Amino acid sequence: MFSGRSGLDRRENRLSQALRARRRQGRETIDLTCANPTELGLTPAPELLATLADRAALRYRPEPRGLHRARCSVAELMSRDGPPVDPERIVLTASTSEAYGFLFKLLCDPGERVLIPRPSYPLFEHLCRLESVEPAPYPLRYDGHWYVDRAALAAAIDGRARALVMVHPNNPTGSYVCRDDLRYLAAAGPPLISDEVFAPYALERDANAAGSAREAEDRLAFTLHGLSKLAGLPQLKLSWICVSGPDAQVAEALGRLELIADAFLSVSTPVQLATPAIVEQHGQLQRRILERLRDNHGALRRACADSPCTLLRVEGGWSAVLRLPATMDDEAWSLQLLEQADVLVQPGYFYDFERGPFVVLSLLTEPTTWRAGIDRVFDAIEG
Ligand SMILES: Cc1ncc(COP(=O)(O)O)c(C=O)c1O
Repeated sequence: MFSGRSGLDRRENRLSQALRARRRQGRETIDLTCANPTELGLTPAPELLATLADRAALRYRPEPRGLHRARCSVAELMSRDGPPVDPERIVLTASTSEAYGFLFKLLCDPGERVLIPRPSYPLFEHLCRLESVEPAPYPLRYDGHWYVDRAALAAAIDGRARALVMVHPNNPTGSYVCRDDLRYLAAAGPPLISDEVFAPYALERDANAAGSAREAEDRLAFTLHGLSKLAGLPQLKLSWICVSGPDAQVAEALGRLELIADAFLSVSTPVQLATPAIVEQHGQLQRRILERLRDNHGALRRACADSPCTLLRVEGGWSAVLRLPATMDDEAWSLQLLEQADVLVQPGYFYDFERGPFVVLSLLTEPTTWRAGIDRVFDAIEG
């Protein structure tokens, strides 16, 4: 009765089962995984809400690619960090997930393939399957910094590969694609989809890190951003795609994207009307988020210094990856930390890490919780 693509794996993993059981028993848990700023004391000034109450929102005058003023404000914002962006090359969407959905419809027919980095954002698998396209992972390797395994990428590219996703900086490895790798990815063949939602959050950005993928002028590229990370407001549901590359391809892509967007018209009018003000005011919250990330990163680095754990380099983003002693796998570690130290961390396998054991922590965690949580993690490991 149902489609094959909606038959995604819904089984609960062992960590979620254990967490649910603890909650039933009323046991407290120190959560080092939350990455929702609105739950972590990182909310914008309440006056921002007023911008969502513009009376103009009482009228419905949809524009498939998004209201012109909203597109101008995000184009102007992107232009501050690179070559000027034409607002006519912006398409607004109601989340980055929707942007991926639009782009997979634009670029792929059912059964075709999208190249995705591994380890990376776990949602790619589902976003691909829901569009009836096949995720084709290409590995990232770590030797003090992360880089693309070019031989493995070349082997993954075949006639069915229709798009190449890069996440810049990547979640959760925090790694930016370096300039050399960006040149390689751009030359690899398929159009680029570059998820740059975490770009404003640089911590220890490598000098060789590439700029935005939109600077790879010879290649059709779709750069993704959104208020969810830029302004710490995931609940507003506003993201955008910036289309770049050879003019004729850009024009065709925009024409097709406009039709796709017209079938949904999913971005709400109030958020589009509020976007110029949010973009103008986002700096203050962004600075607080950056400060939180830096402080938590510093505390974690100090805690790691004399421990059997290794903190992988964090160039940017909201996560930290810890390599733990190889006495058990990452799932067993996360279960043990939950049961014996009352601390919730994510096991690396959630993100398809190959070796390990790795656990992933949210650098956005509230500072007192963070210090208590990492103390418990290190006590448990050293014990
Ligand atoms: C790589 C990546 N892209 C995008 C997003 C944000 O998605 P959305 O705009 O759908 O909230 C996230 C959220 O964690 C992410 O990790």
